[in-house]
Amino acid sequence: MKIARKTIAGLLPALSLCLAVAVRLAAGPDVALAFHNGGTGDCGDCHTTHRAGAIAENAATAQGVYMLKGSDASSTCLNCHQAAGLAGPTGQYVSTPESEMPAGVPPKQMTPGGDFGWLKKNYTWKAPGSGMRASPGYMHGHSIVAVDYGYSADPVITRAPGGAYPASALSCTSCHDPHGTYRRIINGAIASSGAKICNSGSYDTSPDPTADCPVGVYRLLGGIGYQPASLNGYSFTADPPAAVAPSVYNRSEETTETRVAYGSGMSEWCENCHSINPGNGRHSHPAGSPAKLGTLAKYYNMYVKSGDVTGTSASSYSSLVPFEEGTSDYRTLRSHAKNDDSYLRGPDANSNVMCLTCHRAHASGWDFGLRFNTYDQDFITTEAQTGAPLWPGTDTTRNAQWSMGRTSEETRRAYYNIPARRLSPYQRTLCNKCHIRD
Ligand code: HEC
Ligand code: HEC
Ligand code: HEC
Ligand code: HEC
Ligand code: HEC
Ligand code: HEC
Repeated sequence: MKIARKTIAGLLPALSLCLAVAVRLAAGPDVALAFHNGGTGDCGDCHTTHRAGAIAENAATAQGVYMLKGSDASSTCLNCHQAAGLAGPTGQYVSTPESEMPAGVPPKQMTPGGDFGWLKKNYTWKAPGSGMRASPGYMHGHSIVAVDYGYSADPVITRAPGGAYPASALSCTSCHDPHGTYRRIINGAIASSGAKICNSGSYDTSPDPTADCPVGVYRLLGGIGYQPASLNGYSFTADPPAAVAPSVYNRSEETTETRVAYGSGMSEWCENCHSINPGNGRHSHPAGSPAKLGTLAKYYNMYVKSGDVTGTSASSYSSLVPFEEGTSDYRTLRSHAKNDDSYLRGPDANSNVMCLTCHRAHASGWDFGLRFNTYDQDFITTEAQTGAPLWPGTDTTRNAQWSMGRTSEETRRAYYNIPARRLSPYQRTLCNKCHIRD
């Protein structure tokens, strides 16, 4: 089996690209586990195998443009990034099939970027003293187009707010380079050519790049000059961020937090498509390297929950309100990317607020892909009869409207299964982590 696949790879005309594949196939049995390995992957797992070398000449002739295995780029990715029958959060999966999340049941995956399944959850609720309100699925994050998996473009927003990128062309490959071109090289710089990528650079377990072995950029994100083959005129002007995820990153945070060590450059990368413009209404919060926490770091560190400001910098971190450390030193970042609460240190004055302080990159349980609910009201928990904090939901007796039509299980999932008891009853929204107002 292995030999047969190697032979096919050997026959492909795109020899230089395929060399990496042949080398990996020869490397042994973990091939299936480490598919991209920081770079691309076996051509034949995304393109129809027999003629992958003829892709460019025959662009529109075969199954899908570019002879992809799915009807479009995102569907091709979801062939491996969505699966049926998973018990819970698992590996690289970032989407839950519709059939496994009927009304009242949340999506299963809890990656830092979030489960795209939230885009298919439509909610309505009755707000006391006013009419019916709605939180339609397309407001829950980036509406990728993936025809085979029932995902379609945002019906309302036609261009990236603050930018021009067309919503109708938004796909996994708008942000991630399917051919994993961008690499972190020995001096820490990002390059789009040179020695082949040997490893993922995304994890606490990833090696440092060497002259012969660069590593992939964080999450195979596109860098300067990137645009997917199918779209022209929107090429990126900023390189991928410096960040490191713990190697097990798709998990419930019921007992411990999943801490991605965000270093720098995330907001600048989002600004490849958006611009944040202070004074520009909805997207005006400061974000990026210059948006230092300064004296606000002190508040972040003190803040435990509403009414409790006894926290200390050694243990103040919350994955619901992450920050950038203001560094691109990977040794430091690797030692901070944890999922066992062994590093919970909060920010210092040099840390900065960034887009992912408030948003998730893919989608979330709340409007605008937010990490925490800010909609129209200040409270994110209610109180049980016993006086204990409780996630609100359509099935709870008090303040059901604070869940915006979600069940309490969906609310809890939107907070990555964090127990409500870690917060206060009538907990205020988490903007307060930095701007204590109660
Ligand atoms: C992870 C999935 C994936 C893998 C692995 C992959 N491709 Fe692609 N490829 C794509 C997608 C998606 C597109 C279309 C991009 C778009 O415009 O949306 C594409 C487009 C192309 C194109 C046409 C456009 C261009 O960029 O020139 C060529 C040629 C190509 N791939 C060759 C290859 C070869 C050779 C390999 C193996 C070394 C390979 N691909 C591996 C997903 C993949
Ligand atoms: C043949 C199955 C397969 C296909 C098709 C596939 N992936 Fe993956 N992907 C995986 C596996 C397995 C992992 C985890 C291991 C790894 O990173 O190699 C993964 C990991 C990833 C990661 C994290 C990698 C890192 O180093 O941080 C990203 C990002 C990703 N995939 C994006 C995509 C995108 C975008 C596409 C479509 C263009 C795609 N994948 C298509 C199997 C696949
Ligand atoms: C708008 C840009 C964007 C789009 C569209 C996008 N991603 Fe991502 N993705 C990111 C970013 C940024 C991260 C890193 C998130 C973090 O660490 O907080 C990420 C992370 C990931 C990861 C690592 C696990 C995680 O969620 O943190 C995988 C796997 C992945 N993406 C696959 C995909 C696939 C498959 C698609 C399409 C179905 C897709 N992405 C669409 C930007 C995007
Ligand atoms: C490749 C271009 C691209 C990149 C990069 C990108 N976005 Fe977007 N974004 C879009 C487009 C297009 C839309 C409008 C379609 C939609 O709402 O899904 C959008 C919409 C949004 C929305 C509104 C979502 C909603 O539910 O209506 C938010 C919030 C957002 N982006 C945040 C981010 C953040 C944070 C990042 C960086 C992690 C980012 N974007 C990176 C293209 C991009
Ligand atoms: C401090 C929290 C916070 C930060 C940081 C933040 N946002 Fe937002 N963003 C929000 C909230 C809250 C909303 C919902 C609209 C509102 O209430 O203002 C929003 C809305 C948006 C929207 C939808 C706007 C629309 O017109 O539909 C986009 C796009 C967006 N943000 C992108 C970004 C990007 C890109 C960054 C980083 C450069 C960023 N945001 C940083 C909190 C934040
Ligand atoms: C991680 C810390 C952090 C979080 C969380 C945070 N902010 Fe901020 N905020 C800042 C920083 C830093 C500034 C800029 C410095 C300052 O004004 O003191 C700022 C400034 C502001 C300003 C003044 C804006 C301006 O242009 O001067 C407002 C209003 C604001 N934040 C609202 C919010 C709201 C609403 C949320 C929740 C959606 C939020 N913040 C969450 C750190 C944060």
